Amino acid sequence: MKVIVTGGAGFIGSNYVHYLMEKTDHSVVVLDKLTYAGNMASLEGLPAERCSFVKGDICDAGLVDELVAGADAVVHYAAESHNDNSLDDPRPFLDTNVIGTFTLLEAVRRHGVRYHHISTDEVYGDLELDDPERFTESTPYNPSSPYSSTKAASDLLVRAWVRSFGVQATISNCSNNYGPYQHVEKFIPRQITNVLRGERPKLYGAGENVRDWIHANDHSSAVMTILEKGAIGETYLIGADGEKNNKQVVELILTHLGQPSDAYDHVKDRPGHDLRYAIDSSKLRSELGWTPQYADFDSGLAATIDWYRDNESWWAPQKDATEARYAAQGQ
Ligand code: NAD
Ligand code: TYD
Repeated sequence: MKVIVTGGAGFIGSNYVHYLMEKTDHSVVVLDKLTYAGNMASLEGLPAERCSFVKGDICDAGLVDELVAGADAVVHYAAESHNDNSLDDPRPFLDTNVIGTFTLLEAVRRHGVRYHHISTDEVYGDLELDDPERFTESTPYNPSSPYSSTKAASDLLVRAWVRSFGVQATISNCSNNYGPYQHVEKFIPRQITNVLRGERPKLYGAGENVRDWIHANDHSSAVMTILEKGAIGETYLIGADGEKNNKQVVELILTHLGQPSDAYDHVKDRPGHDLRYAIDSSKLRSELGWTPQYADFDSGLAATIDWYRDNESWWAPQKDATEARYAAQGQ
């Protein structure tokens, strides 16, 4: 297969491209605008004969049409992906997440190309800390932020294009990812790189918010499974039973890096901060036979810490600008 991976120079997209190169014979065309979040260094070392790169915007209908015409499948990762940025300036989230998805859907519709849509569990809003239920495929949409509301909008476009136009699409909603190549604006890499630079981790509010962590490699294997075996029109939730509150994660990072586990600062909370996400991924496991490989968060986190320690040249160029932005927000 020839697969277009949008956003393939970003965190999860680049992990997926590496995964496809290792585990399949597919060839890949990465389509990426190279925003502040895209990084060509994340694609270094891949076989040029099977992996090519096109710098471009998913909102560019002419370019998208030309590329989709020659492809067997599109896996759509490209997005504006950071909640804090969406609170500061929502407009790029509307453009990329909504109009970009619309543009891709029109192209796959015209050319009859298989489409897989990457989304997030944040479309479901949040849960109470003691809620016995987790998110399932039938949880009502209830997004909180400009980021999650534009992701929700894009999911609904996909569902409508399946029903109205017969587009051959599947959707996955995954929980919080961690692993190599994640931008230092995000929680785990921000705290790891703070400690590596001798700075203290920054916890929003009391640090009691819970996220359901999954290694990016497990996200990739789930997406490959859905692309191969998923039923058209279906949504699959992806998660690895990795619930931890933010305070626990920061304490683990500090301990792994040989620091006292309370050597962090509390900073201003995020407005509208979702309290808890938790995924029930039974449908993906029972219907498609998927299981995560990184069942143990602590060892996956240790490997991720090692990666950031060994790859300072990858993250250092982004670090000062990212911290300057947070400092301006009081975080
Ligand atoms: P990221 O911000 O690291 O990467 C996004 C990539 O998209 C970048 O390479 C950027 O250059 C590219 N891009 C942005 N706008 C573009 C445009 N208009 N045209 C072409 N390329 C463009 O994001 P990520 O964390 O890797 O997330 C990837 C996808 O996974 C997103 O759809 C996100 O909603 C979803 N997701 C993320 C998480 C998570 O924990 N990070 C969890 C679940 C789902
Ligand atoms: P983030 O990585 O931004 O992912 P999301 O908002 O999509 O879940 O944040 C994960 C959690 O960590 C979230 O509860 C906000 C919190 N957080 C901090 O406490 N400190 C930080 O510096 C950042 C970036 C996030």
